[in-house]
Amino acid sequence: MSNEKIIIKTAEDIAGLRIAGRLASELLDYLTPFVKPGVTTAELDRLAHDYTVNVQECVPACLGYTPPGMTPYPATTCISVNHVVCHGIPSEKKLKHGDIVNIDVTSIKNGYHGDTSRMFVVGKPTIAGKRLARLAFETMWAGIDAVRPGGCFNDIGIACQAYADKNGISVVRDYGGHGIGKGFHEAPHVNHFPTNRPTAKFEPGMVFTVEPMVNAGRYGVTILGDGWTVVTRDRSLSAQWEHMVLVTETGYDILTVSKGMLPPPDFVKGWKMPENL
Ligand code: MF3
Ligand code: CO
Ligand code: CO
Repeated sequence: MSNEKIIIKTAEDIAGLRIAGRLASELLDYLTPFVKPGVTTAELDRLAHDYTVNVQECVPACLGYTPPGMTPYPATTCISVNHVVCHGIPSEKKLKHGDIVNIDVTSIKNGYHGDTSRMFVVGKPTIAGKRLARLAFETMWAGIDAVRPGGCFNDIGIACQAYADKNGISVVRDYGGHGIGKGFHEAPHVNHFPTNRPTAKFEPGMVFTVEPMVNAGRYGVTILGDGWTVVTRDRSLSAQWEHMVLVTETGYDILTVSKGMLPPPDFVKGWKMPENL
């Protein structure tokens, strides 16, 4: 277990994170009708940037984000197409029928981060693409539904890995979820596969992301020469969804909610769609 302290959020923090989470989810709602064959990912990024800054009056957290040893990230969104696992840099390349696309957005409102991502299947779907996008969604929810006070972070990894194994897909090991708040990437690092090392216990007031990346082939990844783009080593398809999760006294809540969000799969017992989104 890493010694870095997991911040327990105050009621005020949680209120701020709910607002930021909703705005990030609403940004994905806004982008959805534009995700069509022929659009470039750079155009989607421009739309995201303008909506974030001018309509939502938020700060795009990814633009210029520079983790240690990295070059500044050059865009508002990460748009990861087909065999791109994550951190896809928007470009002038056009989306085409059957592409599977992850759009990952992070916005800052009043100092709090909202971080969420969804899959989109462009135009006429392929069977394999549609299946992997759905399995990524279900793997995320299997992980989320393992959250309860008294449990521990390893429960997320166990649940995600079991779901992936059952369906013959693999879980990326080099990237994971993270605590989130006033910081973009806070402790802890959240693995989506099991570990033998001790992991922290869930406590009410913890907020973190669950964002498994799953591959149709093997779990290995490699980084392209731009220093950011992560692709599957075997160039198989990859998919990812992301929500922000709050540990409550009795279970968990989802902070990245909006009208356009997809309801959880039927197997989820711990959370229901709010009645008035
Ligand atoms: N939004 C990503 C996450 O879920 C992080 C992207 S960092 C960037 O943690 F610099 F690539 F934008
Ligand atoms: Co994240
Ligand atoms: Co994200």
